[in-house]
Amino acid sequence: MSALRSSAARRVLGTPSAAARTMMRPAAVATRSMASVSEAPAEKPPRMKSFQIYRWNPDKPTEKPYMQTYTLDLNKTGPMVLDAIIRIKNEIDPTLTFRRSCREGICGSCAMNINGQNTLACLCRIPAESSADVKLYPLPHTYVVKDLVPDLTHFYKQYKSIKPYLQRDTPAPDGKEYRQTKEDRKKLDGLYECILCACCSTSCPSYWWNSEEYLGPAILLQSYRWLADSRDERSAERKTKLENSMSLYRCHTILNCTRACPKGLNPGKAIAEIKKEMAFGS
Ligand code: SF4
Ligand code: SF4
Ligand code: FES
Repeated sequence: MSALRSSAARRVLGTPSAAARTMMRPAAVATRSMASVSEAPAEKPPRMKSFQIYRWNPDKPTEKPYMQTYTLDLNKTGPMVLDAIIRIKNEIDPTLTFRRSCREGICGSCAMNINGQNTLACLCRIPAESSADVKLYPLPHTYVVKDLVPDLTHFYKQYKSIKPYLQRDTPAPDGKEYRQTKEDRKKLDGLYECILCACCSTSCPSYWWNSEEYLGPAILLQSYRWLADSRDERSAERKTKLENSMSLYRCHTILNCTRACPKGLNPGKAIAEIKKEMAFGS
């Protein structure tokens, strides 16, 4: 392919005559030697950045959590906060513990609090232009397994409690697939993309104080994902489970959740939709 391209290019440009080739040669030589002079690698001034990271080790339970500072040259580091902590772990301190997998905002495992904001470390750029340290904490108001790893056991238990899967008795008309109209499928946009990172729930003040019983924005968005699915036949049962003072109605529409979502979803709106359906039916 490249051979084809270069011969085509030669045809378009034409072949220079022998005289022209002779005239061109000194210039070409001069250009090459100038290039070799200017190719000397210019040493970039280091761009040092400090990261203050929350540390706690369950093997030393009497030691209080503390902040540990690591400094990196950003010239040698990828652009995202996850790149920085992977480098710290690989090159400076292998005991630093955090979760990560996909490094592209799909798995939800690198959720943490970065400079006061819950987000995904792999989608968060290192603020290189500011001279301030970057501060990293585990997701707020969670029990900590170690360092930046939150314990999400209760969160997943709550997820399981809403039965997050299709429930129906009527068999598919063609015996194969449960079909939807395009309009019904569209109702799931903005819901199915949730990656269960828990950034929203752990930024919700109501969830901080009532997480034992209040489901929180992430699980309620998932709950609405199944209520909004035209193929599901358990809407009434799903709503009955939410009909109490704690599971749903602890949401006071503060909207911290929507501001926190690194996927640009709107759990606050999903909760409002559930409340509307509960009040007026659908
Ligand atoms: S809107 Fe509801 S779920 Fe979202 S942060 Fe506020 S109280 Fe929490
Ligand atoms: S709604 Fe957004 S912030 Fe909340 S769990 Fe889903 S992806 Fe994460
Ligand atoms: S590593 Fe998967 S979301 Fe960040």
